Amino acid sequence: MLQQRSFVSPLCAAYELASASDKLSLAGRREAGTHARRRRSITRRGELDIDTKPAKTVARKMILMSREITAKLPEVTGKPAAEVTRLRCATCHRGVAIPKLLPDILTEAVNKSGAVAAVQQYRDLRKQYYGGQSYDFSENALVPVALQLTNANKPDDALALLQLNAELNPNSVPTYGGMAQAYLKKNDKENAVRNFEKVISIDPNNQQAKRQLEQLKNGK
Ligand code: HEC
Repeated sequence: MLQQRSFVSPLCAAYELASASDKLSLAGRREAGTHARRRRSITRRGELDIDTKPAKTVARKMILMSREITAKLPEVTGKPAAEVTRLRCATCHRGVAIPKLLPDILTEAVNKSGAVAAVQQYRDLRKQYYGGQSYDFSENALVPVALQLTNANKPDDALALLQLNAELNPNSVPTYGGMAQAYLKKNDKENAVRNFEKVISIDPNNQQAKRQLEQLKNGK
């Protein structure tokens, strides 16, 4: 299971300062020189919260990679170099060592350890990271994962994730829509109807739910 650590590497800070100094005036350069010395001492003392040697090597290569990508942006976007967005460590990392998106973490967790474990992992991550920038805990993050599971003929796994979503977002229309789809996959018409009705009670103009509900009722 993915163990996330929070991630504020001094190498990120060093990278920020070194890149910022590219644009500094002469007066600013002296300041940047001070930062460069500080940076060296940081690296010499090895004060990295990424604790293993391989991670440090990775971090150095990440600096090069970030520069390379930033350097390519003018060509890729057709914008002048001064206008392109500079790729920072946090652009990808957003406060975690492995910047994997929540839907990917959950999909992997379901496939590897089952839905119960995935739900627990979501709860753990939410407890640790809610309110920060690392993960999207909005109502919409779990729904596509659940729909994929339903399509892959795993409606019970989908339902486990959607129950969790409903617990955290009791008025989430896509969540009940997703549940209806999962129940349809299980041939459980009664619960599918119940969930389409729930969608319509929250969002009375939801045409898709109305249509599907009508089809279900006529099909009986
Ligand atoms: C373009 C996106 C991107 C940028 C920018 C980026 N990284 Fe990464 N970094 C990644 C990804 C993705 C991984 C995870 C790779 C994997 O699956 O193991 C990673 C992994 C790492 C790791 C290894 C973490 C571990 O525990 O295995 C370190 C250290 C790291 N990055 C440091 C940095 C630093 C420092 C910067 C800024 C100079 C930076 N990264 C910029 C995408 C990025």
